[in-house]
Amino acid sequence: MKPFHTIIEPFRIKSVEPLRFTHRGEREAALSAAGWNVFRLHADDVLIDLLTDSGTGAMSSAQWGALMQGDESYAGSRSFYRFRDVVQELTGFKHIIPTHQGRAAERILFHSILKPGQVVPNNNHFDTTRANIEVEEAEARDLVIPEGRVPAALHPFKGNMDLEALARTLAADGDRIPLVMVTVTNNSGGGQPVSMENLRGVRALCDRYKKPFFLDACRFAENAYFVKLRAPGWEKKTPKEIAKEMFALADGCTMSAKKDGLANIGGFLALNDDAWAESCRNLLILTEGFLTYGGLAGYDLEAIARGLEEVVEEPYLKYRIRSTEYLGEKLSEADVPIIRPAGGHAVYIDARALLPHIPPLQYPGIALVNALYVEGGVRGVEIGTVMFGLHPDGTETASAMDLVRLAIPRRVYTQSHIDYVAEVVLAVARKKSELKGYRITGAPKVLRHFTATFEPLR
Ligand SMILES: Cc1ncc(COP(=O)(O)O)c(C=O)c1O
Repeated sequence: MKPFHTIIEPFRIKSVEPLRFTHRGEREAALSAAGWNVFRLHADDVLIDLLTDSGTGAMSSAQWGALMQGDESYAGSRSFYRFRDVVQELTGFKHIIPTHQGRAAERILFHSILKPGQVVPNNNHFDTTRANIEVEEAEARDLVIPEGRVPAALHPFKGNMDLEALARTLAADGDRIPLVMVTVTNNSGGGQPVSMENLRGVRALCDRYKKPFFLDACRFAENAYFVKLRAPGWEKKTPKEIAKEMFALADGCTMSAKKDGLANIGGFLALNDDAWAESCRNLLILTEGFLTYGGLAGYDLEAIARGLEEVVEEPYLKYRIRSTEYLGEKLSEADVPIIRPAGGHAVYIDARALLPHIPPLQYPGIALVNALYVEGGVRGVEIGTVMFGLHPDGTETASAMDLVRLAIPRRVYTQSHIDYVAEVVLAVARKKSELKGYRITGAPKVLRHFTATFEPLR
């Protein structure tokens, strides 16, 4: 029998959360009161929330059931051992250190091992990774392949590391490089995957220069599924087998369980080196908590353990990757410029290309985010000049791209929600020439995008 064409959500819904419908006037008033910054909105005023895929997923009934199994013992909790065993079985790493989220794992790793003036190469550092490196007065160096910097360039593994650039960097600055990182999938570059061949190339260079290799593994399962779909020779392997091979190439990883841990909070640091693990554990006790809970409740550890088992299930990944691709297709077919191909967790609209009449310093990304909210209650996020354009010396320049990310929470929205989102984007795109830029009326000096206030230009 031929397989059916429709890819369905591989779950049925047991518990629902009502959405609150608002009309345009209400949304305009809410956004104006929020200083025209969607981060400052009350979430009840948002209909479809695509601000982030981090911690916003729906847990399964098995995860909710696992919460009741949580052992809240301060030390030696049963839930820690269950969590440790699942993480160890998947990653193969020797030391498993729980943290309250991904950036805590980054802070603990980098504060323990980095010295001022050192350099950390990565395909693209996520913003918390970069910030945690820079706060140690080290340099976060992005070495993604050239295609990874061009929104319209098609490449099956657009998140790949530029191996030649990495080889040059290791040759020139090797004595200043304590480790090499690769982010799978590459969030800052559009949620794009990294191939196994590329990861092997990074491993070989790390071996040649005797450097540890770490993964930023937040979306390891999505990356594994892209390998299965796109790389010849991998189609017969399960996503879990591929994920295990990915981890086997590395010496450690940082992880936010809010993404491919299918949990609402949590993370971990996992690594093989005994001395590094010991200094990381000392810092963990100082800032996160005891070794067997690391800032999490026992029930969180249970939810993550179960989530890591569910996230590599093929029906889940098939639905997950297809629903993002489906939104990407709908937008591309209507000539809305997006980063192509669509990423694993999000569709990125090229706001600068869609709104060429709005100069970067009038924030086309903010103009588009705000228009999507006013038009249909859809909340996305600007990844552009507001997020990256302000420099430590107070000057402001256009960022490399002005994007709007529509991140899809895991297992939360159905196909009709996605159809609705596409309709809203298309409605805004039809009146793009009417959209106006913005001016900042107030902003902090760091991470301004979260709290800045704006005013529409007339
Ligand atoms: C690639 C990547 N690394 C690290 C992080 C940080 O994780 P967390 O938000 O749990 O601190 C994120 C979060 O979005 C991410 O996407």
